[in-house]
Amino acid sequence: DEAGTGTGTRETADKAIAEAAGLLVQGETVAFPTETVYGLGADATNSAAVEGIYRAKGRPSDNPLIVHIADRSQMDAFAEGTPAEPLRRLMDVFWPGPLTVIVPVRAGAVSPLVTAGLSTVGVRIPDHPVALALLRAAGCPVAAPSANSSGRPSPTMAEHVADDLGGRIGGIVDGGPTGVGVESTVVEWASGAIYILRPGGVTAEQLREALPDVPVREPARTEEPAGTPRAPGMKYAHYAPKGSMRVVLGDDPKAVAEWMRRDLDAAKARGERTGVLTYDERRGLHHADAVVSSGRLAEPETIARGLYAALRQFDREGATYILAEGCPDTGIGRAVMNRLLKAAGQEVIRV
Ligand code: TXA
Ligand code: MG
Repeated sequence: DEAGTGTGTRETADKAIAEAAGLLVQGETVAFPTETVYGLGADATNSAAVEGIYRAKGRPSDNPLIVHIADRSQMDAFAEGTPAEPLRRLMDVFWPGPLTVIVPVRAGAVSPLVTAGLSTVGVRIPDHPVALALLRAAGCPVAAPSANSSGRPSPTMAEHVADDLGGRIGGIVDGGPTGVGVESTVVEWASGAIYILRPGGVTAEQLREALPDVPVREPARTEEPAGTPRAPGMKYAHYAPKGSMRVVLGDDPKAVAEWMRRDLDAAKARGERTGVLTYDERRGLHHADAVVSSGRLAEPETIARGLYAALRQFDREGATYILAEGCPDTGIGRAVMNRLLKAAGQEVIRV
């Protein structure tokens, strides 16, 4: 019962959206495209429905979900009070778009499973015609994490969703590949500053431009000790391909490629199937069983757009040992590096 709109006419698309909205209202889960990644939606006011999201994804229940709406007026029903003035300015500038704001939640207005028991809720208006049409047709606030199995790379195509969750959800609305490719930027307002809780589709630079008079704070940047891989601390299992992965950083692309080649040759000699994640401009420098490019360094937004499909490609290729070249940690590159480091369990080699 998957509602496809990928190749059909306008009428089949409208029908698929109406069908998907009906499923949401009935308390089913439905995957749908947004401008960032595909989301797995459920009626945020219905705990049984939201429970279905956690079950399908295998998601730990202490990780709260983002609520999606089509119109700012819908916020009044579940946000407590008026959002802080800087947050309202960000909503004016970036909604609809890849920005999630954390605001106080109105007691009892959404399922406690959505907020994971917190007194706040994350909310955004996605900038995608299919998402907006679906949200309007459903009429309810829709809780939606990324529509991947927990720990896997987020889905940027309907087939990624089907690979991970096929048969475990009410339906998939196919809206083609997503545009931004990494998730929304999550921000909160606290003690006179905007805090970036998760870098994403709206860059820190864009936030600062929109709020020149407000401090915008972000998590510490990538600073790694030279030479050795960082001691594996807490093992993250986010956005990760099945093979082991490490991120390689360095200023000289040729030296980086040379170091990678030696390390990959050694891995191959141990019987590993090797993978390299690189960029279009650097493809020719690399040798591995699978050399995959996420996009063009000259156009960083293409790297964000292609990142998750590239990570999934390693699983199709059966890669067991993967080295990923880092990219500049500015603009949208900040979000890309955040996801790469998580996929690598924070294991970094500086060449
Ligand atoms: O682009 C996106 O944001 C996608 C699409 C589907 O909209 N959604 C998404 O959801 O990435 P998810 O569940 O994969 O990530 C939600 C993030 C998590 O890092 C979560 O911890 C944070 O938002 N979050 C949600 N509610 C929060 C809250 N009340 N306080 C702090 N962080 C919160
Ligand atoms: Mg996610």
